[in-house]
Amino acid sequence: MSDILNSMRARVSNPRLIQPSPDRNELEQMFQCAVRAPDHGRLRPWRFIVLQGQALAELGQAFEASQPTADETRRLRLRSMPLRAPMIIVSVAALDWEHKKVPVWEQQVAVGIATQHLQLAAQALGYGTMWRTGDMTEQPAVREHLGLADHEQIIGFLYTGTVEGEPRVADQQPLDDIVQYRG
Ligand SMILES: Cc1cc2nc3c(=O)[nH]c(=O)nc-3n(C[C@H](O)[C@H](O)[C@H](O)COP(=O)(O)O)c2cc1C
Repeated sequence: MSDILNSMRARVSNPRLIQPSPDRNELEQMFQCAVRAPDHGRLRPWRFIVLQGQALAELGQAFEASQPTADETRRLRLRSMPLRAPMIIVSVAALDWEHKKVPVWEQQVAVGIATQHLQLAAQALGYGTMWRTGDMTEQPAVREHLGLADHEQIIGFLYTGTVEGEPRVADQQPLDDIVQYRG
């Protein structure tokens, strides 16, 4: 079986990520893969923000600032959430709500696929990732901190780094119930 098929079959998410994270050259390779996502109308509705070091702590501060009435335990948790990996790549969709031919859901899917290409490329380079979203993607304080325009949406926080310990083994979903062959 080809390397790419083996790689896709084996893909897993990795919640426990440590240094090192991809360097600039590796990131460029990952983004070159990301921008080859299928994209109706060639809108190129994606952009990416790479956070590491101090920028992760600052994102944590923005998470905390979004919940001013939270108790200290929750505030600490929010502050430390982005520190679960040495790098976060924020996938952003720049959405054209008025587009005549390409509905917003197709634009969101395109950025989702670009994000998945990032995951697969990172894995091929020897790194692990974990795609996370949650409440923080919608919070005004977080959006403002990341410089999102009104028409932009966070599609994922892609936590990225080196897998700590043994990587998980991918399980295979049985196909009989989900695939129908006709003709
Ligand atoms: C759009 C999207 C958002 C996700 N958000 C979260 C999240 O906020 N927290 C989480 O634990 N998993 C989230 N996941 C799921 C994980 O990234 C992962 O796919 C899941 O834990 C299953 O593991 P696997 O990818 O190894 O099969 C999200 C996945 C997608 C596609």
